[in-house]
Amino acid sequence: MTAIAEDYRPKVEASYRRCLLSGTFFDDFYQTFLASSPLVAEKFRNTAWEKQKNLLRIALRQMVDYYFAHDEAAAQTMADIGDSHSKAMMNITQELYDLWLESLMTTIAEHDSHYSDELGKAWREVMNHGIAAITARYE
Ligand code: HEM
Repeated sequence: MTAIAEDYRPKVEASYRRCLLSGTFFDDFYQTFLASSPLVAEKFRNTAWEKQKNLLRIALRQMVDYYFAHDEAAAQTMADIGDSHSKAMMNITQELYDLWLESLMTTIAEHDSHYSDELGKAWREVMNHGIAAITARYE
């Protein structure tokens, strides 16, 4: 991890805590994500939402840990998500991850009262690291 990346850590952690304060972060994320494309809505047509929101809360925590802590459990979570989202399983293509990331960034900007361009850049770098690990298992 570079010095710049290490410097991001308290900023991203504090931003994430502010995002969770409202209690509607995951509802708002999924609302934005589902509205981003009919392809997304189609994938989630049979979803049990309370369970899904909880699983994403855990996975997002793991994505942050995967970037900053090089956590083995987090790396395993990335691999497991990569397998369930692979071509042979749910077939989640790269364009859907682009929508996922843009929806997440919109939701963070709306929820974090101290949001800035620098924080946006940090969040993108952290999330892209996890997304790369997940999509590496697509084929
Ligand atoms: C980095 C981004 C993502 C993360 C961290 C993530 C995380 C998760 C997790 C933890 C689960 C539940 C456990 C599992 O099946 O592995 C899940 C399920 C699912 N994800 Fe993702 N996901 C991501 C991106 C996407 C994208 C881009 C789509 C595209 C539409 C998607 C669609 C789904 C669907 C359809 C399910 C199953 C929902 C159900 O049970 O009905 N995910 N995801």
